[in-house]
Amino acid sequence: MPLPDEPAPTAPDEIAGALADPGYAVVPGFLGEATGLALLEEIRASRERGDLHEAAVGRGGEKQVRSEIRSDHVLWLDPADLSPAQSCYWEALAAVRASLNRELFLGLFDLEAHLACYPPGAFYKAHLDCHRGVSARTVSAILYLNRDWTPEDGGLLRLYTDREAGTAGPFVDIAPEFGKLVLFLSADFWHEVLPANRERFSLTGWFRKRDASPI
Ligand code: OGA
Ligand code: MN
Repeated sequence: MPLPDEPAPTAPDEIAGALADPGYAVVPGFLGEATGLALLEEIRASRERGDLHEAAVGRGGEKQVRSEIRSDHVLWLDPADLSPAQSCYWEALAAVRASLNRELFLGLFDLEAHLACYPPGAFYKAHLDCHRGVSARTVSAILYLNRDWTPEDGGLLRLYTDREAGTAGPFVDIAPEFGKLVLFLSADFWHEVLPANRERFSLTGWFRKRDASPI
């Protein structure tokens, strides 16, 4: 089984246009190889130190670990204490944020991001990253850090491309390959992570809007 046919790749300077229509973008080779490798080493090291913790679902006081919904392990980045590689990532995403604000008037004012590791067998069932009017999360941006990903490794991102039909409609499957950045409108696109058969590493970020109701 080959890797899936993915949506046509988007160049970094065309991200805003792709988010306007069709609402998502797949950008291969987003960060330089050296930065990606440094980020990968940092996630591995954090994982070995036991710094990653089971990810929760829900908001605020309702946050809880529900391993039947998601079973990845995460570590939130601290914008005040970024490593050099994390600063490169942060700055690259700040440039994307500026272009989205300039071209789409999205009013994005900051980024929150976590390292994520899916151990073998881990998954994340179909979900939206935010519910309209409830959360400030506006654009999801996931950077994958897995070298030599093969079809047998599983762990595809399944993105349901029809906003109205959601999980009942068509989807694309995206392999979590090293250096690939995937972006989509957080309130519009249902998505899930299919079970991974080997450790799967990523840096998941969300651009947030100032004028949404408090989380
Ligand atoms: C998430 C998520 C997708 C992925 O963390 O909310 O949907 O491919 N991640 O890692
Ligand atoms: Mn998600």
